[in-house]
Amino acid sequence: MCGIVGIISSKEVSSRIINSLKKLEYRGYDSAGIATLVNGNINEVKCEGRVDVLEQDISKFNLKGDIGIGHVRWATHGKPSKVNAHPHSSDEVSVVHNGIIENSTILKKLLEKKGYTFKSQTDTEVIAHLVTDYLKKNSLKDAIIKVLKKLHGSFALGIIFKKQNNLIVGARRGSPLAVGYGPNENYLGSDSYALKSMTNKISYLDDGEFCFVKKDQIEFFNSDGSKINKKVMNLSKDEVNYDKGDYKYFMEKEIDEQPTTINACINEYVDKLNNQINIYNFPWKISSFKSAMLIGCGTAFHSCLIAKYWMEQNTNLEVSVDIASEFRYRKIKFKKDCIYIFVSQSGETADTYAALDLCKKNKVKTCAVVNVIESSIARDADLVLPIYCGQEIGVASTKAFIGQMLVLYILSTKISFDQKCIDRKEYQSKIKNLLCLSTSAKKTLKQDQKILNIGKVFAEAKGSMFLGRGFSFPIALEGALKLKELAYVHAEGYPAGEMKHGPLALIEEGMPVVVLAPRDEHYKKTISNMQEVIARGAKVLLITNKNKDEIISENIWEKIEVDQLDDELIPFLITIPLQKLAFYSALEKGYDIDKPRNLAKSVTVE
Ligand code: F6R
Repeated sequence: MCGIVGIISSKEVSSRIINSLKKLEYRGYDSAGIATLVNGNINEVKCEGRVDVLEQDISKFNLKGDIGIGHVRWATHGKPSKVNAHPHSSDEVSVVHNGIIENSTILKKLLEKKGYTFKSQTDTEVIAHLVTDYLKKNSLKDAIIKVLKKLHGSFALGIIFKKQNNLIVGARRGSPLAVGYGPNENYLGSDSYALKSMTNKISYLDDGEFCFVKKDQIEFFNSDGSKINKKVMNLSKDEVNYDKGDYKYFMEKEIDEQPTTINACINEYVDKLNNQINIYNFPWKISSFKSAMLIGCGTAFHSCLIAKYWMEQNTNLEVSVDIASEFRYRKIKFKKDCIYIFVSQSGETADTYAALDLCKKNKVKTCAVVNVIESSIARDADLVLPIYCGQEIGVASTKAFIGQMLVLYILSTKISFDQKCIDRKEYQSKIKNLLCLSTSAKKTLKQDQKILNIGKVFAEAKGSMFLGRGFSFPIALEGALKLKELAYVHAEGYPAGEMKHGPLALIEEGMPVVVLAPRDEHYKKTISNMQEVIARGAKVLLITNKNKDEIISENIWEKIEVDQLDDELIPFLITIPLQKLAFYSALEKGYDIDKPRNLAKSVTVE
């Protein structure tokens, strides 16, 4: 989703702004732009499409300047176009914005009455004119305080001023914003990744704060304008060089990395010597919990769903799950003896963050399961459980899903042992099984050629269904989501037992249907449901695990078998062919696999 960058230096900044915008490309965007200040003039270059195009345009314009801001836009107000691309400038200022100004229509009308004219259809342009208007009668700082109070909604802002050649203003409410410290230059960015090639010294703005980024210092203020101090963090440099290696797509690389990321995560939480799970920083007594509430969006929500099955089966907790955008608007009865678990790869998803914020305001216990440990969600939760899968660049979440499930499974197993729901023997046997997961994941990845051919059929389908029961139901939802977002094929994930209550009517001759039927307690029932769809003409891809009993059905179109592991671990393995299926279906259609249309990696608007 939108990303912003700002640099103030004594050297020219445009090429470095472009480099940082390239780092933000993974978030998903449709247009890009840059503005620099040169001798009291703001020069803008904008384009629809990729940062590469912007880079070429900039070299034509020979864009100079040692103060500048840049932006990648994911359209919310107004279609993707050059005129709607940021920065948006007035006679006095130029603004880049990530987020949504909810009262922009009213503000626009007021500003138009005062004689301001608008070039774009964006909500952001009001900020440029509003700042200009307040600057007429206020100091720069007072103007900023007043403007921020006027804006409803969410924003991370970068603003440069025609008459002020010594600062960039940054401000945050809802959308993330980092500042970076360099040698005689300083930076602003939507995330630390955008700034990592320039610095590993970072501070994060909290909601309501703003800052003056100058060449030799950064001043921070709260919403009333009182000066505040911020912690400076030293970030690790290990992810700076994450690239595609020999792969054509990040997604493909990220799927294939999963055996390694599974091991990396297990190594962080499992003490193999003593055969036990360690969560060192757990700040509460496990016995103090009676319930757990898991919250996330999209793929992260699916990992919450599957954790509900594990936790219900293995612990004494009463478990509920919610989609963050629903949770935050429900009338929740917050409980002191509940652990509220927020699952998010990016740690910046606006709805998940708002749900966490709501919990913080209600003073309940919060835990974040995240990949980006410097993220807003990680910074604000009481307990952070990282998934340790390394940077995920492909917009479609793959290795992070496996990582989220893994951490939730580890947490569930630890709670079940601490609550004495399982004895030491069972606990250690679960850990032993977990240690086999990476090897089995590696074997599952080897069925590539077969899935490539199956993908061709799904790519051409009008619609498809993904069915499963028990642990396999959330995986069916995830498989369907992956196919929708990458191959743009309509796909529905459904509990297999629900088919005859309506969706069976959708099945017609040749429709591809994925049936997830591991040899668990639901196996026979799922196989019956499979027969029902086959009888109505469906082309069934059965995904199951190896077993000595042959499956008795002559009409299965294709079959993929994963290793026989503990039933609870099969969800990890059956996820992998579904990720590959979506990948190959999208490949067949020649789609932009790492950046599917209309989607963003970091969803920072609600
Ligand atoms: C799908 C996908 C999304 C994200 C969702 C939440 O492949 O990636 O559904 O899972 O936008 O994102 P995070 O996990 O960053 O909160």
